[in-house]
Amino acid sequence: MIEKAITYFEKAGAQNTEETLKLAIERAKELHIKDIVVASSYGDTAKKLLDMVEIENLDLNVVVISYHQGFHGEDVITMSEETMNELRERGAKVFMGAHALSGVERAISNKFGGAYPVEIIAHTLRTFGHGLKVCYEITLMAADAGLIKTKNEVIAIGGRSRGADTAVVIKPANLNNFFNIELRELICMPRDKKKPDEE
Ligand SMILES: Cc1cc2nc3c(=O)[nH]c(=O)nc-3n(C[C@H](O)[C@H](O)[C@H](O)COP(=O)(O)O)c2cc1C
Repeated sequence: MIEKAITYFEKAGAQNTEETLKLAIERAKELHIKDIVVASSYGDTAKKLLDMVEIENLDLNVVVISYHQGFHGEDVITMSEETMNELRERGAKVFMGAHALSGVERAISNKFGGAYPVEIIAHTLRTFGHGLKVCYEITLMAADAGLIKTKNEVIAIGGRSRGADTAVVIKPANLNNFFNIELRELICMPRDKKKPDEE
């Protein structure tokens, strides 16, 4: 048996970014985890993570997952080419691709209405917080893209719309083995899933 601390933020949202990244790095060091997968739509959270990794001169595989092209409108890419290049020059791997927990199902529900299994899984995970659902999703995407191995535990970091508020230790799986994914440790998450400006 082991006992560990979990940090609970009062509310969800980007105001928790720095603390989330700090806690994630601490746990990575403690567990000798080499892979950190982070959601970053525009690159801000990824840059903050790399700042911390560089200050401590840590040897980590930083995998940055952004929204797929077209998520925010036809052919729109949220992360600028300049930011993508900067992150890659700083040693991170940047990936954009189909979202593991929506994909083609989003098109079906948008067109015909109704609820389908993958989006139900996503909504169920969101009851633990959007950030936790994102941790699952980006871990699956990173594994399917070949940027992490499924046999090694990784740290995953997600948030509510922008920034980060949730970090976990997670054993990855590929999408074709989705039910093999395992949440190993909660590092931090918001107690109240709403952002400070939401009722
Ligand atoms: C693939 C993907 C899926 C995401 N899904 C959600 C979501 O369901 N709910 C949510 O609040 N944020 C979602 N996000 C946003 C992230 O949790 C995170 O807050 C954001 O990517 C940070 O971007 P920034 O560094 O540009 O601020 C998603 C991001 C990505 C890349």
